[in-house]
Amino acid sequence: MLKSFFYYRPFADRTLCHFLKQRLTLPELSLQDLFEDFNEQPVTLHQLPRGAWSTPTADVVMLLKVALCSKPKKLLEVGSFRGYTALYLAQHVSSDAKIVTVDRYPEHGEAYRNTRYASMIERRIGETSTSMYQQDMPGSYDLIFIDADHSYEGVKHDTELVLPLVSPTGFILWHDYANWGYFDGKNGVPEYLKQLSEKLPIAHIIGSDVAIYSPAWAGEQKQHYENAIQSKVHPNQVNPWKIMSVRG
Ligand SMILES: C[S@@+](CC[C@H](N)C(=O)[O-])C[C@H]1O[C@@H](n2cnc3c(N)ncnc32)[C@H](O)[C@@H]1O
Repeated sequence: MLKSFFYYRPFADRTLCHFLKQRLTLPELSLQDLFEDFNEQPVTLHQLPRGAWSTPTADVVMLLKVALCSKPKKLLEVGSFRGYTALYLAQHVSSDAKIVTVDRYPEHGEAYRNTRYASMIERRIGETSTSMYQQDMPGSYDLIFIDADHSYEGVKHDTELVLPLVSPTGFILWHDYANWGYFDGKNGVPEYLKQLSEKLPIAHIIGSDVAIYSPAWAGEQKQHYENAIQSKVHPNQVNPWKIMSVRG
């Protein structure tokens, strides 16, 4: 009842979300401190993402930086829409890398169709489910981007399906780790990741609405991860001349 009231009133949802101070509790991670070559890796975007559902440019840039620095050979995008993110990933990884894109929308991927990058991308059509990934070996993906159904149940479902698929040194990134969609139920990413972070090292990438996890951070890369975590600064205490973290 309450959800349906807010469903068609996103402005009301966003206004009330401002009062939810404890929603975004993940540690803050600086990608510059995680990857030594972060600043040297160039991101090039020819065309910018189009359409309300496409991943915003600042978040795309963070994802591409992770791809450039970690050099994945097998990638998965859960929720691909027009395919801009898949196209950009194909343009920023080595040409022998493979990208799997999943979407229920049969036409997904128009951004890379009829381009020379199409051969790097395998389109899968349908609902995210166990059968969607039955051909994939455990631990076989180096980079997974989850950007489909953002409801609590949706993101939990998608994450549980792909957690076994990430390689021991790979990364999972979630889009829309952001303070909206609480009252209309459209965005449960913060709540789900808060819960999951009690078991796994998950952090918010500073300058973006993206959260990130690597299985390696629970083992030999733990110190590396901890070195990249920044202490949280209260917005009232921010001195613009002292802040050096990336602006999204
Ligand atoms: C926010 S858009 C993805 C944007 C995309 N990552 C990009 O960069 O443009 C979410 C997409 O997820 C798809 N989707 C949502 N729930 C799904 C589900 N349960 N199974 C498959 N696809 C789903 C929608 O069809 C939609 O195209």
